[in-house]
Amino acid sequence: MICLGIETSCDETALALARDGKLLDSVLASQADLHAIFGGVVPELASREHYRFIGPLFDELMRRNNLMAKNLDVIAVTRGPGLLGSLLVGSAFAKALALSLDIPLIGVNHLHAHLLACGIGKKMVFPALGLLVSGGHTHIYKVDAPDKFHLLGRALDDAAGEAFDKIGHMLGMKYPAGKRIDELARMGSADKKLLPRPYLDNDNLDFSFSGLKTAASQVIQNNFSGKDLPDNALKDFCASLNLAIAETLAQKVKRALKKYPECKSVWLAGGVAANSMARESISALALKEGKSFMAPELRHCTDNAAMIAFAGCLLARKGCHHGLELEVIPRGRKIPDDMLYS
Ligand code: KG4
Ligand code: ZN
Repeated sequence: MICLGIETSCDETALALARDGKLLDSVLASQADLHAIFGGVVPELASREHYRFIGPLFDELMRRNNLMAKNLDVIAVTRGPGLLGSLLVGSAFAKALALSLDIPLIGVNHLHAHLLACGIGKKMVFPALGLLVSGGHTHIYKVDAPDKFHLLGRALDDAAGEAFDKIGHMLGMKYPAGKRIDELARMGSADKKLLPRPYLDNDNLDFSFSGLKTAASQVIQNNFSGKDLPDNALKDFCASLNLAIAETLAQKVKRALKKYPECKSVWLAGGVAANSMARESISALALKEGKSFMAPELRHCTDNAAMIAFAGCLLARKGCHHGLELEVIPRGRKIPDDMLYS
């Protein structure tokens, strides 16, 4: 069974092919440089770029793999959350293919797909505790099966990736800043007391990173503003920030494992799962708690279509599909539980 995965939820136009759960190939056009000019993603520009790239990328992917559209068995597409116009470009393309080829269409939840990417090329263990940390979301789930996700907690304001990006912006870094902060952090030494571990003084599994952003901005203003940052001070600050975010995430994972001890595995996914300190802290915690730890390879942490094609294979195997009336869901609206089963 060959599944085509299509991802256009934000600023990457990506397509991938998977055969029976194994990745065949993927193509991606990133718009990061374009949006960096504006300091963040401009929705209208993002839709236009998806519209421009999706057709040529599809042709390139099929040509490279000596396939024709009629060789496809399933079309999986990100149906949300994301930017409405961007999602519409991907879903219109997916629906047209599914209709013309008379094959199943599967609308994939982008956040679930990030987490399912932990299983690419590996044996998946359920139930799992899944922490999804990206630019727009910090969600913690109990995952019972590829189509059974239970949301346990989420960011009430800024997501962890957003905190990295906004603090990076204050430091004059290019958007998205998480990767750069992580690179500098690995060369610095962290001051454990410099920044708070936000929103831990409660017993829930939600997150709030806006306080950390404010604290970081004060440190930057008091210590760095107007000065040319000495290299080492910047590296140490980044190390302190990496540690504050990683420890905050790990604390909530620890709490979740106490509440849901039946989870056998801990999954860490999303763009921030590429963060060296987050990977280290959460894998060490999982090990200590006697759980296995899974995270996608670095190239499958940030937005990609391999995760959509892979999720499509897992869901198709369970008989999941959607009709052509599949609705795309912009960020902020709950994704309906409307999967059909054959
Ligand atoms: O999952 P993703 O590609 O897009 C969303 O769905 O949001 O995540 C992008 C986020 C950005 O905020 C970026 O700064 C962050 O992931 N990121 C990192 C690292 N690599 C990417 N944050 C911290 N450390 C990294 N190494
Ligand atoms: Zn994402």
